[in-house]
Amino acid sequence: MTIGIDKIGFFTSDYYLDMVDLAAARGEDPNKYLIGIGQEQQAVIPPTQDVVTMAANAAVKILSDDDKQAIDMVIFGTETGVDNSKSAAIYVQSLLGISNTARSFEIKQACYGGTAGVQMAFDHISVHPESKVLVLAADIARYGIGTAGEVTQGDGAIAMLMSQDPQILALDNQSAFHSENIMDFWRPFYRRDAIVDGHYSTDIYIDFFNQTFNDYCAKYQRTLTDFSAMAFHLPFTKMGLKALRTVIDTDEHSQQLLKEFDYSKKYNSLVGNLYTGSLYLSLLSLLANSTMLHAGDRIGLFSYGSGAQGEFYSGTVVKAMQRQRLGHQVDQLLANRTKLSVPEYEAMYANGLPNVGGDVTFDSADDHNRFILVGRKDDQLI
Ligand code: HMG
Repeated sequence: MTIGIDKIGFFTSDYYLDMVDLAAARGEDPNKYLIGIGQEQQAVIPPTQDVVTMAANAAVKILSDDDKQAIDMVIFGTETGVDNSKSAAIYVQSLLGISNTARSFEIKQACYGGTAGVQMAFDHISVHPESKVLVLAADIARYGIGTAGEVTQGDGAIAMLMSQDPQILALDNQSAFHSENIMDFWRPFYRRDAIVDGHYSTDIYIDFFNQTFNDYCAKYQRTLTDFSAMAFHLPFTKMGLKALRTVIDTDEHSQQLLKEFDYSKKYNSLVGNLYTGSLYLSLLSLLANSTMLHAGDRIGLFSYGSGAQGEFYSGTVVKAMQRQRLGHQVDQLLANRTKLSVPEYEAMYANGLPNVGGDVTFDSADDHNRFILVGRKDDQLI
């Protein structure tokens, strides 16, 4: 029996900021943002979306009625939770009409939460082969206007349906992980924006990648040549490239890995950081855009969550994987976004949730924004 990712859905907000405009407003050379950081555009979140609505919008695109009945676990990885107590998973389960016999809960460890969900889903399906598990990974990355981290903001959600005999990626059940108490990035309750020691965080990321990649290779007697491509957690796309460069040399296989990396960063360079979902947007970008990957090819995946937890694991491309179908939904979504000027972005950044009257309900606005947040009434999000 193979177990892995059967379907992937993606959602990001309707608005974006061009990094050339941001560079001009901040007095930076645009090439610092475009080449030095590797970001072209950044998703900007309106007050009508939060992690619950984004995850529901990502999942609604991929789930059939049969899936909703078969799902017996909903795992939500996020570090932008909407409640200290109640999990965002329960909201999504109810919005989508997923069976009430499912276990629904939230996981937190910075950007690593999505991967924790994927691994837990794998273990669950190994024991209960008929199960389907919905893994959600959604976040809003905020550093503050005029900060060094501003160019690495973004938002979005990934929804993955995991099952036996998956149609996209079969996991190898081979992984190596490393955790350590490190203060590189954190988001205390009293703050809306993250606190980050930016350069330190990039050093720790590379250190964790090297440790977990080397442990993985030693554990499973693999080398770099066993991988047709690698997908990374991409807080900004240059980060993954820096990590990849630490393990490649000048041979032909390394050139192939660099080409595949270009495919894997395409969507992330247009969306920005979506924390828990970043690695899986990169995987989606790779699978949807690479013309070189074939069934059976092995992909290495590096997940990193500040604080810090790293994991390197692997999977193989499934024969049934449909490249064009995967790319279509994302290309359309990104093409339909509205560009904001820097003052418009700054105004949206400062905006809070609207306070409105009316019934407690989510609106179905259009096909893309099936779920939107209308406001807050009597201490409930509506
Ligand atoms: P900075 O200090 O403004 O940038 O902040 P810099 O001065 O280091 O320059 C960046 C790059 O641009 C450098 O390249 C420059 O040389 C280059 P590098 O040496 O790194 O290869 N550059 C140029 N290139 C071309 N033309 C030019 C030019 N000028 C300069 N004209 C920093 C950068 C990433 C630190 C900042 O944006 C930041 O703090 N970001 C947030 C933190 C972050 O994303 N960390 C990543 C690792 S931690 C992580 O991944 C976890 C996370 O996702 C959270 C979680 O787990 O929940 C963040």
